[in-house]
Amino acid sequence: MLRFLTAGESHGKCLVGILEGMPAGLKIEEAEINRQLTLRQKGYGRGGRMKIEKDKVEILSGLRKGKTIGSPIALLIKNRDFKIDTSPSITCPRPGHADLAGGLKYNTKDMRDVLERASARETAIRVAIGAVCRALLRQFGIEITAHVTSIGGVCIQIKRISFNQIRQKADKSPLSCMDKAAEAEMLAEIDRAKKAGDSLGGTLEVIAVGVPAGLGSCAHWERRLDTMLTQGLMSIPAIKGVEIGTGFLSSSLRGSQVQDAIFYTKADGFFRKSNHAGGLEGGITNGEALLLRCAMKPIATLGEPLVSVDIRTKCPQKAAVERADICAVPAASVVAGAVVAFSLAEACLEKFGGDSLAETKRNYQGYLKQVKTF
Ligand SMILES: Cc1cc2nc3c(=O)[nH]c(=O)nc-3n(C[C@H](O)[C@H](O)[C@H](O)COP(=O)(O)O)c2cc1C
Repeated sequence: MLRFLTAGESHGKCLVGILEGMPAGLKIEEAEINRQLTLRQKGYGRGGRMKIEKDKVEILSGLRKGKTIGSPIALLIKNRDFKIDTSPSITCPRPGHADLAGGLKYNTKDMRDVLERASARETAIRVAIGAVCRALLRQFGIEITAHVTSIGGVCIQIKRISFNQIRQKADKSPLSCMDKAAEAEMLAEIDRAKKAGDSLGGTLEVIAVGVPAGLGSCAHWERRLDTMLTQGLMSIPAIKGVEIGTGFLSSSLRGSQVQDAIFYTKADGFFRKSNHAGGLEGGITNGEALLLRCAMKPIATLGEPLVSVDIRTKCPQKAAVERADICAVPAASVVAGAVVAFSLAEACLEKFGGDSLAETKRNYQGYLKQVKTF
């Protein structure tokens, strides 16, 4: 079983993560984890915090000579902006953030106690964990990319292009956007929102290719890969909707327009000419690319805050203003790629098992043979 736990506050000393269940013998490159962390930090529209932080991972345990040894992998990212004990109290909760709900729940009138953990700073360590999972997935030929499909209502117009093209274009873009014309409009929209003291949300897409048919399960609700993937994606702060394949659009179409007809050739085996299912049928991968889309709401902290209530006086008062992003959809796309990497790694290990990478790969090869001769 692959599992992880994270700890750490937004302005605490550091973020830590423990990943347990990785087979022995997998090479892990710190540089590759740091590359993902840098991608998460970039993005036009992010706040001042990302100018302070230079996220770098330290691998504390679980490796010997750069390879996993089957023990828990402990990861650490230090916060440069370490000031948890001196940061000001928050007494006017921000609508849309965890401040009020968390204050009531934990019985604290200083809602900084709540926001320090509710903050999406925690997603940095999840990106590091996802990068370790990507190293495992590469052993099975699975690659993941994520890109921004809209910001503040400005949508990309480019239709489907190849996985590699999407990845290359998104990696080079300040908004992880593959459509240059839409990107220019998105940048202008972010500038306008910033000027107005406002914030923006958007949508993003995660694509995984090389995924073999048969990951996940139709046998029990929590082992459906749909469940594992959407649970991870919905756990990202501010993600308010997830769809698989054509998702919500499917509901307004006819079955004949939505289901993907099945074809077979000796060379390619079973395949589809369309992928409305987003690579999942019955909770199980069907051998096509995984397509997942997420909707992110606008950032809760506003330069021109909404009305709130001072919880000490109970009088109307503008909500607290914290240093914040105007738009974090590009960063969220990197986090989404990481959580999908974790869920796919979990599903691969559930299917192929093994305590060493050699054993896992042997099981994988045996399974591929079975699929080929099916
Ligand atoms: C990468 C990323 C960065 C974020 N940055 C901010 C931010 O700077 N300020 C803010 O108020 N919310 C930010 N959020 C969103 C909040 O963390 C989120 O809205 C809050 O925790 C409440 O959770 P909920 O929106 O899921 O209900 C960010 C989210 C992500 C994924």
